[in-house]
Amino acid sequence: MKGLILSGGAGTRLRPITNTSAKQLVPVANKPILFYGLEAMREAGIDEVGIVVGDTHAEVEAAVGDGRRFGLRVTFIRQTAPLGLAHAVLIAEDYLGHEPFVMYLGDNLLKDGIVPFVEYFKSSAPDALILLQHVPDPQAYGVAEIVEGRVVRLVEKPAAPRSDLALVGVYLFTSKVFESVRAISPSARGELEITDAIQHMVDRGLQVEPRVVTGWWKDTGKLEDMLEANRLILGTLERDVRGETIDCSIEGPVAIEAGSRLTRCTVRGPVTIGHGCELTDAFVGPYTAIYHGVVVDHAEIEHSIILADSRISGLNARVCDSLIGKDVTICRAEGRPLAYRFMVGDSSRIGVV
Ligand code: DAU
Repeated sequence: MKGLILSGGAGTRLRPITNTSAKQLVPVANKPILFYGLEAMREAGIDEVGIVVGDTHAEVEAAVGDGRRFGLRVTFIRQTAPLGLAHAVLIAEDYLGHEPFVMYLGDNLLKDGIVPFVEYFKSSAPDALILLQHVPDPQAYGVAEIVEGRVVRLVEKPAAPRSDLALVGVYLFTSKVFESVRAISPSARGELEITDAIQHMVDRGLQVEPRVVTGWWKDTGKLEDMLEANRLILGTLERDVRGETIDCSIEGPVAIEAGSRLTRCTVRGPVTIGHGCELTDAFVGPYTAIYHGVVVDHAEIEHSIILADSRISGLNARVCDSLIGKDVTICRAEGRPLAYRFMVGDSSRIGVV
């Protein structure tokens, strides 16, 4: 079986982070989201993975390389525009050939991985296996209607959902899916929807089996979901302090990589701190992930994700519930008049006190 990971798309709901970077490379608990998918493939015994890439292909290709360090052989498949999940399948046909495959959306995270689904698919060989989860806001997802254990109807982001079962971003297919992705037309949002292709498979009388996923699953397309995924993964963190700590109080599950230095700080886990960070007179509260090369002094941060090489300094209030991009500076504005001074990218969100 081969794997297909989708790492193209526009990432509009995570602007401005995605103005300059691939959303799939935003680190959750200090690991790029995409890497969780690659690891899930390997764990399921899949060693050949195609990654669909779009405008951010150079960054994704640089981060993943040839896949060897994940124990995978990776092939990149260029998608010229984000024309939909079924379009991504279509352009991957030559790569996938006649083999069954697992398709994994590169911004999705599944705590328990995909091993049982891959094993079931290999042994029982339905035409497709779809994963579902009960959600409070089904209108934000593809929604499945199940009658007596059978999939009868699938609708992409319905205004009036007929169930609360969302399609999780992991799908297992035989090559029969190609006939269906070729048969469908673009949706109202102009995309070839995989949801419509699966409906087409159902309508052709093919065997499309549903499985409800019980462990947590997150589509990290929005800030709140990203922070929640970060929280869920940090919730399993174990203490591993390798960096230097001077006059610090390090409480609970805290990971600090070698090559970072903390002076007069209180760190209350779960917290993960990458390498090359310098924290001075700072408080880092629960559910915070600080990536490599970050500087924090005289500031407090909690329940946030800070990306590489940013600097947070001299703030009077705590930074909470935030996603701070790469190489960002947030510091006290000195001088008169007493004023906020910003240089902020398009589609940024700022909350001041
Ligand atoms: O997360 C689960 C949901 O994912 C499902 O419930 C929906 O049925 C499914 O359509 C999908 O919805 P989203 O609107 O969240 O999909 P999104 O546009 O965020 O794309 C998912 C991933 O696929 C993301 O990593 C970007 C990538 N992608 C997307 C498109 C449209 C591509 O690589 N190429 C594309 O053309």
